[in-house]
Parts: sequence; C-alpha cells; structure tokens
Amino acid sequence: MADEVRCAVFGQGIYCRALVEFTNHCDNNCRYCGIRKGNVDLARYRLSDQEILDACATAYALGLRTFVLQGGEDAWYTDARLIPLIATLHERFPQAAITLSLGERSPQSYENLYAAGARRYLLRHETANPEHYRMLHPERQSFWHRMHCLYALRATGYQVGCGMMVGSPGQSWEHLADDMAFLQEFRPEMLGIGPFLPHHATPFSACPPGSAQLTLFLLSLARIMLPKVLLPATTALRTLLPQGLTQGVAAGCNVVMPSIPTAGYELYDGKAAVRDLPQVLRRMEEELALSGCALISARGDYGADNAAGENQRMQNACKPRG
Ligand code: 5AD
Repeated sequence: MADEVRCAVFGQGIYCRALVEFTNHCDNNCRYCGIRKGNVDLARYRLSDQEILDACATAYALGLRTFVLQGGEDAWYTDARLIPLIATLHERFPQAAITLSLGERSPQSYENLYAAGARRYLLRHETANPEHYRMLHPERQSFWHRMHCLYALRATGYQVGCGMMVGSPGQSWEHLADDMAFLQEFRPEMLGIGPFLPHHATPFSACPPGSAQLTLFLLSLARIMLPKVLLPATTALRTLLPQGLTQGVAAGCNVVMPSIPTAGYELYDGKAAVRDLPQVLRRMEEELALSGCALISARGDYGADNAAGENQRMQNACKPRG
C-alpha cells in the first residue's frame, strides 16, 4: 500500500541528495553514535570551505539539486563561519536547495542560516519518549530542548526533517508508538527512519542491530500516514540490507542521499566509504530500474508537483551504458 501511495504522489521519480559530511567533530556524547565526543580514537576532520564547495560542484555536475551539509555538533562552526559558506553556495548554485543537519542551535542561529539561503533542516528527534531519550543521551542533552529546536526550525520557515532509529537500545513497542504519534502531530516535511547499528567505540557496542523488517514496516506506515513526506532509504538501512534501496522504495521511500566522497564520518560500524560518485549513482540507477523507478534531477521540495512527469531524469540516468 505504501508503494502505491508513493507512486501516486511522486510517480517513478526518486530524489537524490548530495550528503556532504563536512565535520566529524562533535561536542555531544550520544551513547549510540560513533562520532561522539568520548570516542578519542577517531581521527577528526573538518573540510575546508573550498572542499565543501568542490564536493557540491561535483554533485551538481552529476545532476543533484540538493546539498545536505551534515556534521557533528561542532561549535567551531559559528554562524560567522557558516553564513558566508551558505551564501556562496546559494549564489553559485541558485537552482539547488541547501539542507542543513548541524544539530541543536539557537533559534537566532536557525534564523541567520535561513537568511543566508538554507531552506531545509534535518534534526532527528531520535525517540519521542523522554525516558528513552535519557537512556540514549547523557544528562546535558534534553528531550525538551530537542523538541524546542524542532519547533523553532518550523517557526523559522524551514522544511523540517525529524526521525528515529529502529531498535535502539531500550526501545520498546510503546516507544515506537510514541514516535508514530509524534510524527502524526508534528507532520515533518522530511523523515529519516533507519535501523540502529552498533559502533565499536560506544557504550552500545555490544547491542544488537535493529531489525530491517521492522524498519521497512515503520517506513511504510509513515508513507501511508504522511503521503507527501520526503522519505529516504537511509544509509543505515542500506548498510544493514543489501537490497535496502529496492526494499525501501517498495516500503514507500522516495529519496536517496549518497555521501559525497570524504573519509571518517563513522556513525556506526560497516558504513561504506564513498570513492566514486558516478559509479554509486549508476549502481543506484540499476537497482531502481528493477522497481521501475529512476533518479531525477530536481530540488524535490516538499509539496512540489512530482507526479506531473516534468522532473527530468538525471543525466547520469540518460546515458546509455555498456
Ligand atoms: N546507528 C544508526 N543510526 C545512527 N545515527 C547515529 N548513530 C547511529 C547508529 N549507531 C543516526 C542518528 C542521527 C543521524 C545523523 O544518524 O539518528 O540523528
């Protein structure tokens, strides 16, 4: 049913977002996450502005029209550093959407970054249950602050993405029901749902991964509940499941977010490092063709008229192969 809803709303087109993981420094210590501050063994990096611009230019040339700038909560990235970067991207690539995924910041900062040209913001709520939130995060990170940020983003005018891990340690059926109730109330424009995957340098290293089948089930519920939501087949799902893209699409997913080549952004074990973006796109095209779908070159804003068929297939997709 989710597949039918996806097809009715979006047709055959799958949006493709360029994920630029530009810093793995993080001031937070989320118990599940491989780039947590407490992981002292991790080699930390920050891409230069030039490297970020180059990564976006590479993606743009291949037909991608959304740049997702994602990083740890890295205080080095003050507004004063981010504003010129976002403004330059916005100016150089006026046809592309800029999505940020930088964690919790002040409402003023969210406004400043919006004014610079960002229009979407991803901030997963992680769990809609405050007690469960406390199990996943140290004391100084609060569920209520996370909620406050999500509503501040909404009030600023962003298209907002939230989301949760499936099978994170301590998660119960009730917690997942809380998540679904929260989604129904918040009605996010974007939604990331992926399985929890253990990372060796975290307190949850010995915990089992979340279930791929349950993730797919929740994705399909989300598609039916929020027909127009932008729903990626997450990297975590595709890490756990070899056929994650095809199965994600069959469960209602309509977005993929390939990382643009950078090393060391390791949220969980087994996360593949990307080398060759054209090859990654080709492989995704081939997988999608099996589901009768194709990557399209469009910004893919929430509520855009997708089924009209005016979205161009990505150039990559049009090139004859072999
Ligand atoms: N397994 C799965 N997802 C994870 N994330 C962080 N660590 C893990 C993990 N070990 C997710 C979180 C975060 C997003 C960027 O990645 O939900 O919000």
